[in-house]
Amino acid sequence: MPAPFRQQFSPTRRGARLARLLAVEQLVDWGWERDAEYLDAAELVVGELTANAVTHGRVPGRDFLLTMTLVPAPEAGSDTLRIGVADGRGERLATPVTSPCLDGEHGRGLVLVEALALWWGIEPRFPSGKTVWAELPGPPPR
Ligand SMILES: Nc1ncnc2c1ncn2[C@@H]1O[C@H](COP(=O)(O)OP(=O)(O)OP(=O)(O)O)[C@@H](O)[C@H]1O
Ligand SMILES: [Mg+2]
Repeated sequence: MPAPFRQQFSPTRRGARLARLLAVEQLVDWGWERDAEYLDAAELVVGELTANAVTHGRVPGRDFLLTMTLVPAPEAGSDTLRIGVADGRGERLATPVTSPCLDGEHGRGLVLVEALALWWGIEPRFPSGKTVWAELPGPPPR
């Protein structure tokens, strides 16, 4: 398994965008095919979680951290990608996942994550902040 990807980004829209772009380049470096569905899914999840980190999880002056780890999952038939986005706000997510706003313009990010991920969740982080993580299926073995 390759070494995990781990990088901090400024808590801005630009930082979130950069994180998404670098995540895709890392996955391609790991041999993921550019136009594969599993790559699109990973890009969408990284995009939503990093967008949330910089809008809802932002603490001024504190970077967010993106990690990606490939975990062998022999029984699943493909490796699992574990994505983690750590931000500075430690309190739990306030809004239930499955209730997008009635205006239809907000509250879609985590609905998408829920649909694409095998599992996802939130972990507190020492000494402060939290990590929102999601696990997705990786490429099928060659
Ligand atoms: N990293 C986070 N820190 C704190 N609260 C969060 C975080 N991510 C999500 N939330 C809370 O969960 C809610 C739902 O998140 P979700 O991504 O589904 O919707 P949204 O960000 O409000 O809108 P959209 O993603 O559709 O632009 C958010 O409105 C926010 O209250
Ligand atoms: Mg969102």
